[in-house]
Amino acid sequence: MEKPTPVRWAADGNAIVILDQTRLPGQRVESELGTLDEIVEAIQSLRVRGAPLIGIVAAMGLAALARRAERSGVPREELGGFVEDWCSRIAATRPTAVNLTWALGRMRDALAREKGDAPALAARLAEEAQAIWDEDREMCHRIGQHGCALLTDGARVLTHCNAGALATGGIGTALAPLYLAHEAGVDVRVLASETRPLLQGSRLTAWELMQAGIDVTVLTEGGVGGLFTEDPPDVVFVGADRIAANGDVANKVGTYALAVLARRHGVPFYALAPTSTVDLTTLTGADIPIEHRSADEVREGFGRPTAPADVRVWSPAFDVTPSGLITGIVTEQGVCRAPFEPALREAVAAAAEARASR
Ligand code: MRU
Repeated sequence: MEKPTPVRWAADGNAIVILDQTRLPGQRVESELGTLDEIVEAIQSLRVRGAPLIGIVAAMGLAALARRAERSGVPREELGGFVEDWCSRIAATRPTAVNLTWALGRMRDALAREKGDAPALAARLAEEAQAIWDEDREMCHRIGQHGCALLTDGARVLTHCNAGALATGGIGTALAPLYLAHEAGVDVRVLASETRPLLQGSRLTAWELMQAGIDVTVLTEGGVGGLFTEDPPDVVFVGADRIAANGDVANKVGTYALAVLARRHGVPFYALAPTSTVDLTTLTGADIPIEHRSADEVREGFGRPTAPADVRVWSPAFDVTPSGLITGIVTEQGVCRAPFEPALREAVAAAAEARASR
């Protein structure tokens, strides 16, 4: 199975190399990010995107910046201050996905604990970033196993945006069960909604599933209602950018509409995400900050006007699906069901315990 690698270390460790997702599916272009501005720009412009992946890129990028600074002779005390400043700047790039602040929190902890010189600090940060990546890969696999158990042979699965290998350090979250089912010879078919305005569904989900030989059909968001009346999917699998303590889920704008349709038509609706996406300090979905994107992303689609140049635009990047519409939340710890709050607390505690015992 061919799986894209959305990020890797540059050979000298002074930079990271990303697969530029704004160029897909037409071109497979890698770019090296070696400065803070390049890392910030890549996250804000969605060259790298998807909640777990932006956490991984933030951590790896930070570690590469520290390595570069240490090699150019920056002393320990000064480097610590730089790392703090870089964390703050990277954390401000995208507000909704909690994985970004979660990963940077781990990097800040590593900074606080490492008392050695500048090379030791840079090495410690690289090790932590690598651990965040490795753990995400493993979490994706386990989400895949739990999600796979929800699929029957011949299942038609509706998904939204891209919560696959391109959005994580492994085989994805919402797409992970599909990769594992396909590998096991189970017949699964994917319906990928286009995901206006940046088309992560049609450009990225369709591309990565086709690379893996998984059956996929793209449909416009406008077509989703008709799909449910004419030929409903068996299940809906979506990713998440932040899951509040009560089980409300923020994910790509358009997710809420799918959840309403799924409920109306009696189709099970699952959000699949690692416990790093669960934010127990955010009590409900109403407290989740929703990123709004530039109007130009709606007024202009890939170089051509798609609306009058000066029309007013409302463009939230995410919406919140209330937990009441969610059948289950699949994490690496298993499937959480209502009441979600105790189930999510248990999953987060189990994940912390597993990490501590490593
Ligand atoms: O704006 P994006 O492309 O970063 O939005 C991505 C999503 O909404 C994904 O569904 C979510 O981050 C989960 S990725 C495993």
